[in-house]
Amino acid sequence: MSRRKQIYEGKAKILYEGPEPGTLVQYFKDDATAFNAKKKGVITGKGVLNNRISEYLMMRLEEVGVPTHFVRRLNMREQLVREVEIVPIEVVVRNVAAGSFSQRYGVPEGQALPRSIVEYYYKNDELGDPMVAEEHITAFGWASTQDLDDIMALSLRINDFLTGLFLGVGLKLIDFKLEFGRHWNEHDEMRIVLADEISPDTSRLWDVKTNEKMDKDRFRRDLGNVEEAYREVARRLGIFPEGGPQDLKGPKTMQ
Ligand code: TMP
Repeated sequence: MSRRKQIYEGKAKILYEGPEPGTLVQYFKDDATAFNAKKKGVITGKGVLNNRISEYLMMRLEEVGVPTHFVRRLNMREQLVREVEIVPIEVVVRNVAAGSFSQRYGVPEGQALPRSIVEYYYKNDELGDPMVAEEHITAFGWASTQDLDDIMALSLRINDFLTGLFLGVGLKLIDFKLEFGRHWNEHDEMRIVLADEISPDTSRLWDVKTNEKMDKDRFRRDLGNVEEAYREVARRLGIFPEGGPQDLKGPKTMQ
């Protein structure tokens, strides 16, 4: 593993050169950060769980026609992905007020929004990922109007699909963050694909009945039982990293 060329190291993942041209290996760490890395910690087992959860969600999304960078899982902590040019924008989709939205606009956490709201943030740690408008994105050349149309359409489809999927296992999808990339096929045609990860690190998931937080807010807000919450999300989705006879194939529907 150490002989593999490291392409990029982020806060929660490392990207290595892949086995074939045009591929990368995405390695999931247990490291956790919050508030632009002002808070740091380790959530034991998080990388293994996020690898499985993100694999599961990307595969379900592919099945309904959402193009993603995901190719296949390689092992407990690694997945093979297509090499893409990352659009330097974090797309946040919100269904219920929480987190920075509640703070910025003075809306109580937990208040349902009249419609889903899509926000854009410029991916830049030094600047603290400032919120930006479509105007900034096109003026600075981070993405074209066409790219943004595709990104918006995909984000709303992903939101509709994941909202239903999570509701089916007793979880409310409050909000989540997506990243997209440009992928060129063998004919040099470009298309926008979903990249990065979707996991409890990058989303807010609340239990339908109790509103208990089942995501990274447990780490951000020192609520405890962080790994247990991630494990419960995986369990409800029918994923058991341990494998074995209890390994379920599909999501377990909650009554
Ligand atoms: P926020 O309320 O802090 O803006 O977060 C909105 C959603 O985006 C939440 O589900 C967590 C996710 N998120 C990330 O994945 N990475 C980040 O750097 C931030 C700030 C939020």
